[in-house]
Amino acid sequence: MTQSNLGLIGLAVMGSNLARNFASRGFRISVYNRTNSKTNEFIKNFSSSAKKQGGALVGASEYTEFIQSLERPRKIIIMVKAGSPVDGVIAELLPHLEPGDIVIDAGNSFYKDTERRFLELKAKGLHFVGMGVSGGEEGALNGSSIMLGGAPESWRELQPALEAIAAKDFSGEPCVTYVGPGGAGHYVKMVHNGIEYAVMQMMSEAYAFLKIAYNLKPPAIADIFEKFSQGKLNSFLFDIAVPVLRRPDDLTKKGFLIDKILDRAGSKGTGAWASKDALDRGISITSITEAVYARSISASKESRVALSKLYKNKLAPKKLPLPKFIPLLENALYAGMISCYAQGYDLIQKTATEEKWDLNLAEISRVWEGGCIIRAKLLNVLHKAYQTSGSKNSSLFAVPGIVSLMKKYVPDLRAVVGVVSASGVSTPALATALFYFQDATSKELSANFIQGLRDYFGAHTYERTDRPGNFHTNWIS
Ligand code: 6PG
Repeated sequence: MTQSNLGLIGLAVMGSNLARNFASRGFRISVYNRTNSKTNEFIKNFSSSAKKQGGALVGASEYTEFIQSLERPRKIIIMVKAGSPVDGVIAELLPHLEPGDIVIDAGNSFYKDTERRFLELKAKGLHFVGMGVSGGEEGALNGSSIMLGGAPESWRELQPALEAIAAKDFSGEPCVTYVGPGGAGHYVKMVHNGIEYAVMQMMSEAYAFLKIAYNLKPPAIADIFEKFSQGKLNSFLFDIAVPVLRRPDDLTKKGFLIDKILDRAGSKGTGAWASKDALDRGISITSITEAVYARSISASKESRVALSKLYKNKLAPKKLPLPKFIPLLENALYAGMISCYAQGYDLIQKTATEEKWDLNLAEISRVWEGGCIIRAKLLNVLHKAYQTSGSKNSSLFAVPGIVSLMKKYVPDLRAVVGVVSASGVSTPALATALFYFQDATSKELSANFIQGLRDYFGAHTYERTDRPGNFHTNWIS
């Protein structure tokens, strides 16, 4: 019997698309789903097209059959909901596996779970890979960005297949890389999602100001975003902003869908994971965390509506003529985005040091150039800037190619934050992107004052500017 190159468990949209992607690149892949009818339907719908593309999809109704169909070492991708379902599938698989087999979790798992699973399977002579996959349904089918964490030998086994299904970067190379050991792949994917939250929040702040201050209708805002996406803000998220804003409301046949969508943002928690992790490690990722908070406050719709009756916040837009404001906004968003990346990269670096992971920010930027949700022209700029500077890991604000960009665009970020805030429109992500940059590049901060207060009420001691050591003052005497 011809054996399959890979196995995949979990045929929800992401899993089925990933399996079809492998088959379309000539791989033979066995699939298993808890509900057997789903497997049968999948095979019925897609196996003939897979065959035409030179690959094969093989359905299995039981684990024994599934396992026997795989060549060794077995490479089994799990694509189920993060959390206990992943542990459940691993527990079911374990009795069937043999030393050397590789289990790959391609879902959005929390990196600490991945670390635990890595060690648990290692103790049994098995390899566990935590694979961050970004790009949604479309990426899973046609090419995603893949961040792999685990043992280097697992990477060597999987590299050819993953390179075949990955998206391409700006030079046509596959957007897949070995990030580092254990949970490093899922960690970097988590930070990717944090940046995704922050960028979307900044875009929504720009949308709100254009809508409120300039009274623009969705198609007019779409035109502005479309123009932005043809320039330095070129990216997937700015591209999709255009159809989201232009879509008419099919249900009522009146107006635009965006005006009918309730202003309550959902989340699956990966942004909050990044924020909590940053707090634990003492790293400031304020724009990412503000984006998480903005979703939280959006969720309290009833309370917001009730309170708005008490306060009736009067918006007094202080606006520049629109043609003057648009280029400022474009530059502000660009500087804001760089600041978000600086925050996310700072977190990655701190974690890499603490966990002893040898991460490479040029390479991480490169694999985000294509396939993933935050893919953007800017990622190529970041990749090249790190590559040219020769530094794999210095602060993004210190990288020569970035210094000139920030010097050029931060004044416009400052102007936009000022104008928007003065108008009574909230701009938490853009404002913190500015404040983060200012504080991270400031020789002096006001923390001396905090230290004085702490020492007064709690004898917490302080350091001095003119000599080493810890000091305490008897402030009352
Ligand atoms: C991706 C996305 C993907 C998913 C997020 C969204 O990279 O493909 O990030 O992972 O869309 O889970 O998360 P929220 O539901 O929390 O916005």
